[in-house]
Amino acid sequence: MEEIKVLIDEQKLDNKISEIAMQIEKEYKNKEIILVCILKGSVFFTVDLAKKINGNVKLEFIRVSSYNDSKESSGNIKLKLDLKDSIEGKDVIIVEDIIDTGRTLSYLIEYLKNKKPNSVKLCTLLDKPERRTHEVKVDYVGFQIPNKFVVGYGLDFDEKYRNLPYVGYIEN
Ligand code: IMP
Ligand code: MG
Repeated sequence: MEEIKVLIDEQKLDNKISEIAMQIEKEYKNKEIILVCILKGSVFFTVDLAKKINGNVKLEFIRVSSYNDSKESSGNIKLKLDLKDSIEGKDVIIVEDIIDTGRTLSYLIEYLKNKKPNSVKLCTLLDKPERRTHEVKVDYVGFQIPNKFVVGYGLDFDEKYRNLPYVGYIEN
């Protein structure tokens, strides 16, 4: 077992998610919002965020696999599970657990824009700006974090630790 240190505790997560939800409510008024959850990592964040938005929210799920070989380019991201319903004319917010290099998101934003939604915004719980290789415009950010490998609250190391209620990092 790796040793996990707490980076962001449950209370801080909860407070921040409330803030983001309020910001979204204010900006979207009573418009219907489609939250697009990127499986699997964003499940915990999406669910908690959705519960705090007092308004008309629908959920969609999408899954991509990325090849983490540094020699590969963004062309090697593959869609593993697609949206269920059409997003044409809808207001979409992509909900991501973490933006690292930005490869996954730059692919997904293009992919979703091709489906002709009315708008696409991006919401991420965590952001590691130091690692960015692909520019992405983020509309809602929970926390900017240092370049550490984090786990918990949906984030995994080899599929482990997603169920931790806090965000931690692996001490090595
Ligand atoms: P990107 O395409 O490099 O921005 O990578 C985004 C994806 O890599 C995220 O959705 C995560 O699944 C994964 N990832 C990046 N950094 C971490 C981390 O520190 N812990 C766990 N997963 C991570
Ligand atoms: Mg992942």
